[in-house]
Amino acid sequence: MSTHNIWTHKGTFLLAAVGSAVGLGNLWRFPYLAGENGGGAFLLIYAVTLFAVGVPILIAEILLGRSSRRSPIMGMRFLSRTHDTSRAWESIGWLGAASAFIILSFYSVIAGWALHYTWRMITGSLAGADAATIASGFDALLASPALLTLYHTLFIAASGLIVGLGIHRGIENGLRVLMPALLALLLVILAYSAMNGDMRAATHFLFTLQLGDLSLEGWLAAMGQSFFTLSLGMGAIMAYGAYMPGEASLSRTALAIVVIDTAVALIAGLAIFALVFGAGLNPAEGPGLMFVTLPLAFAEMPGGPLVGAVFFILVLGASISSAISMIEPVAAFLVERFDLNRAQAVAMMAIASWALGLLIVFSFNVWADDSPFHELLGLSAFRLLELLTHVLMPLGGLLIALFAGWALTHGEVMKELRTSEGWLHTWRFLVRFVSPAAVAFVFLRAIPQVEG
Ligand code: PHE
Ligand code: NA
Repeated sequence: MSTHNIWTHKGTFLLAAVGSAVGLGNLWRFPYLAGENGGGAFLLIYAVTLFAVGVPILIAEILLGRSSRRSPIMGMRFLSRTHDTSRAWESIGWLGAASAFIILSFYSVIAGWALHYTWRMITGSLAGADAATIASGFDALLASPALLTLYHTLFIAASGLIVGLGIHRGIENGLRVLMPALLALLLVILAYSAMNGDMRAATHFLFTLQLGDLSLEGWLAAMGQSFFTLSLGMGAIMAYGAYMPGEASLSRTALAIVVIDTAVALIAGLAIFALVFGAGLNPAEGPGLMFVTLPLAFAEMPGGPLVGAVFFILVLGASISSAISMIEPVAAFLVERFDLNRAQAVAMMAIASWALGLLIVFSFNVWADDSPFHELLGLSAFRLLELLTHVLMPLGGLLIALFAGWALTHGEVMKELRTSEGWLHTWRFLVRFVSPAAVAFVFLRAIPQVEG
């Protein structure tokens, strides 16, 4: 088999995994989900799902990657063979590849909107605009297939370019520049929003728990979000884990990923809500929070358009570092399995996903109302996002937990995790019983909702 690729530095896996984890899920989705599901109540359920499901499955996924040292599909084939279990486990890899392909398609379309707003902010064309102007600007963007296609194409091409350069020259080098820059931008946003927004109201909103706000939908949303935000159940983490040097600590790294990802979501949430409350706007705007409410807040504040540009550049950078982690597992598979060169493999994945993205683009305009095609698929980025986060990613995660919990031997797990017996038993208990039960519960609840 292939000579295995390994990251150049011990810390690169953490860098890459954080790059994958931190993205639209933190900056766009977490704040609007919290806004829609009662702030503090959402946070509480989210914390529970993170620790009962997120951390254990994250560890399981890294473990499968590192012990197989192959791309997810080939890795699961290898592991099921060496463990004398059914080749059906290979479906973890296939399911992941399918999810990656779908996620990338709409992720790129939405990240493309951030490109549009970066541009609008830089040119100052939104300065002083009122609510109606900004809302109709967003509608006009969605109504334009040409603009959406342009941004979508630029975004996917940039992501593909980085992956095409290889895991060292492209991904590692790219992230080493990008990630610290993103941290700096995030702090600029936080400082600006602390000075110009209403941090008190934001803190109150995010951290005050009203038990009446706890709901089953909130629980469903929180579970889906913990998969989405940690990039779980679709092979991104497995693929990156395959390049992780053996001596780096797996459980400590996993914990660091979760802490950093959550911190970014909280900081973004605080900054966004402080601006939204400061401008007297509605926090429960849903997906439009970032693209309508926030631009309006920036439009009304001193120096807002400039800081708004910084914010949308942050969104773009975080999205690119996530998008490359969707391309990598599939590209690595194509290279391993069909002996394609990297450029060909990346191009195949990116072009296929780009084409699916076009359907999403059209679902916002040409097919928005009455095309039979739209009726048939009910296609739109948000619907696909739901299908993915509430069904495909949890299903992938469930299988990963079961395989890692039941098929791997104690000795193997010990060799990779090298932690205390106590922690190891806790982890095993979680992946064997708790995570699967929690996922299965939410999953069964979700299916009628996605269909309905
Ligand atoms: N975790 C990313 C985010 O929060 C999304 C993602 C999902 C990235 C799946 C890779 C794989 O935006
Ligand atoms: Na995330």
